[in-house]
Amino acid sequence: MRLDEPVNLRHEMTALQLAALRGGGPVLRFDGARQGDGKPAAMPVVANLFGTPERVAAGLGLELSQVPAFGDFLAALRSPAPVDGMRDALSRWPMLKAALATRPKVLRSAPVQEVEAPINLARLPVQTPWPGDAGPLITWPVVVTRAIDTEPAQVARYNLGVYRAQVLGPDRLIMRWLAHRGGAAHARTWADAGEPMPVAIALGADPATLLSAALPLPETVSELTFSGILRGCRTEIVPARTVPLMVPAHAEIVLEGWIHPGETAPEGPFGDHTGYYNSVEPFPVMRISAITHRRDPMYLTTVTGRPPDEPSVIGEVFNTLALPVIRAQIPEVRDLWLPPAACSYRMAVVQIRKRYPGQARRVMMALWGMLAQFSYTKTIVVVDEDIDPRNWDDIAWAMATRMDPARDVMLLDSTPMDYLDFASPREGLAGKMGIDATTKIGAETTREWGRVMALDPAHEARAAEILARHLGGRP
Ligand SMILES: Cc1cc2nc3c(=O)[nH]c(=O)nc-3n(C[C@H](O)[C@H](O)[C@H](O)COP(=O)(O)O)c2cc1C
Repeated sequence: MRLDEPVNLRHEMTALQLAALRGGGPVLRFDGARQGDGKPAAMPVVANLFGTPERVAAGLGLELSQVPAFGDFLAALRSPAPVDGMRDALSRWPMLKAALATRPKVLRSAPVQEVEAPINLARLPVQTPWPGDAGPLITWPVVVTRAIDTEPAQVARYNLGVYRAQVLGPDRLIMRWLAHRGGAAHARTWADAGEPMPVAIALGADPATLLSAALPLPETVSELTFSGILRGCRTEIVPARTVPLMVPAHAEIVLEGWIHPGETAPEGPFGDHTGYYNSVEPFPVMRISAITHRRDPMYLTTVTGRPPDEPSVIGEVFNTLALPVIRAQIPEVRDLWLPPAACSYRMAVVQIRKRYPGQARRVMMALWGMLAQFSYTKTIVVVDEDIDPRNWDDIAWAMATRMDPARDVMLLDSTPMDYLDFASPREGLAGKMGIDATTKIGAETTREWGRVMALDPAHEARAAEILARHLGGRP
């Protein structure tokens, strides 16, 4: 949807983005964006790109209904002995075999380098999303890095990640990669050697590259190769102008630059996916050495805030993709939901096929202990197969009827937690709660358990048919 109205990049655009997202609305293109000082922006701004699950699936090259099967394929990629699984998965994605074998293609010239712009970040229409934000924030940067022991041509060893970047001045920004991210791991290799680190940021990369960068892919899978798998053809890259890195050839804009060892700046506060402003923390400074862009570039932006926001919509689709990997490790898991309202990771509802007493607790401990992505999941609720883990009414019913608070709640103390959680008593350490809302079996109870009431399905079908006839299709 093209919008001509003047919309200010400072705070005002956020309201339109969130209203569009909450209404299941379209991708927005702002042709009348205004800088904070009221001056017209130098280029159109695009937002709400992945505002619906259908558009996230489309970015993966799929229909929404195909996402679970694609998750099986990803699980096969991760599997320690992937041969059978891979063959099976590849048979469902014939074009993937070819794509897997092909390396990204290096071009000599590329659309993203049509214009070499003056080094002035103030020319970009960078949003300041929330009233309490420290300044303009690049919200959808695809950050390209490599470790010091690699060559620029070894693109299979590159990392691409989305790490927000605060604009500090015309030629400086702050790179906010959290310590456990791929970009941060690469940065440590350069810092340990005391060498400046080359970094490139693609703005407005194609959907496959954007989603590959946002996906927590296994370290052995390169985001650049993977984006080719999603797209069904080789990823095209081009050597950057001033740093020894390759960059996506078809991005709208590329920022090139260097991070010098030890140079940091206080980042934030910025509104985050928790619905609160982050605390201020030091992160590395990137000095810009070149800005290139297409002849008529567009600037892609997004907003993070209390869910639902665009990352939480992406997170729900990624949740479905991740399920086969979780099932491969903990087979009794049938389904698992990370409610977006609980920040997409702070709470999990797990549906299991329960066979023995104590199994719900074992599943909780397996999730916390075996899978890194549950390190910061404060609450796990375990439910039976007949409970829909994505339906709060079902969850409430299971908790109300199958759970005793004194017997069925497991509390842990002093477990890892992200620094964003100010409710933890100590920074980085928090409690965890597991709620066993499953039917109690064997030694778990001495009492006669209730039987679930249900009608004869034939009677229900007949009732529906009779009512439909009388109501003439009206509900
Ligand atoms: C819009 C958006 C903003 C994000 N911002 C950050 C951020 O500021 N810092 C961070 O470490 N991760 C951020 N992430 C999450 C990472 O991009 C994501 O976990 C990715 O898988 C990391 O890739 P890596 O494992 O290769 O480091 C963001 C994700 C999205 C979609």
